[in-house]
Amino acid sequence: KPKPVIFSGIQPTGQPHLGNYLGAISNWVALQEQAHAAQETLLFSIVDLHAITLPQDPAKLRKERREMAITLLACGIDPEKCILFEQSRVSGHSELAWILNCMTPVSWLARMTQWKSKMNVTKGIETLDDVNATTGLQLGLFAYPVLMAADVLLYKATKIPVGEDQIQHLELARDISVTFNKTVKQRFFPPPRAIITETKRVMSLRDHTKKMSKSDPSDQTRINLVDSPDTILSKIKRATTDSIRGISYDREERPAVANLVEIYAAMKKVSVADVVQEHADSTNAVFKEALADVLITSLRPIQEEMSRLQKEDAFVQAVLDKGASRASEIAKPNLEEIQKLVGL
Ligand code: ADP
Ligand code: NA
Repeated sequence: KPKPVIFSGIQPTGQPHLGNYLGAISNWVALQEQAHAAQETLLFSIVDLHAITLPQDPAKLRKERREMAITLLACGIDPEKCILFEQSRVSGHSELAWILNCMTPVSWLARMTQWKSKMNVTKGIETLDDVNATTGLQLGLFAYPVLMAADVLLYKATKIPVGEDQIQHLELARDISVTFNKTVKQRFFPPPRAIITETKRVMSLRDHTKKMSKSDPSDQTRINLVDSPDTILSKIKRATTDSIRGISYDREERPAVANLVEIYAAMKKVSVADVVQEHADSTNAVFKEALADVLITSLRPIQEEMSRLQKEDAFVQAVLDKGASRASEIAKPNLEEIQKLVGL
């Protein structure tokens, strides 16, 4: 029985921030250690074909692809333990996406929520006429979930680490795999399954009801992984808190403080209870200084590694080249069989 293949992707757009780190990248690093110990194949892809489903400045995208590779390496992604590659460098993603496009009912895609949120039309879209009426909706953004299905199925991956927001896409990938298997009358694709990682959702330091996100450029409190110590301190100082004395953890009554406590615990790798015990009598100001200190100290080695890698262009390129060639080796026989099965 073949060992499970694990696939996960991250878009290279925008500045990586604390939410990306705690909610995605640090989980990848943990997963990498497990997969390596279990000798499972693990593919991490910088999904640049997904990035162009929204308009991109080519020079900026090129730079951000490189920066994402550097960020992942600096955060502990180890190319000896996983396959790190850029999606566009393995042509099978596009080739399989086309074949799957030809088997995917448009109505399935109309139900997906992501293109609606990207087009800011979350309500009132029920029918294909409504889809047609969505001004500016490009075919690529609409078909994005099919490319996601191709990403996973190209490697016959069965373990897919996803956040809650991606579960709908994974279900679609399963439906597409079932349709493919029926069409070719054999159980070719194993069903891809979600590994729901217990992700920490980092909320905005300004407004705890929103997640920290690069899609909100007006949020001046978002902590980017490259922020200097001064910037981190001033952002933490600006973070919303409340007027209750001392530091306690109560998601309902003190959501903004709870968010800060969670960040503190996650970055210092201690429990929430430990943080609360240590800071039970701290003022907000004292706690914020301590939090800034934890962030500065824990991000420093990552930042140092990022600046080192900035100067190691040939090394980074070699990692990505090797990753693309290893991914292609797995993809190639699968794609050849798929093409044969559909008569190509
Ligand atoms: P953004 O919302 O900043 O555009 P992305 O959508 O590119 O971030 O997300 C990249 C990864 O980081 C995804 O796995 C996503 O679930 C995770 N992520 C993004 N923001 C947060 C957050 N605030 N807390 C936890 N995880 C997050
Ligand atoms: Na996003």
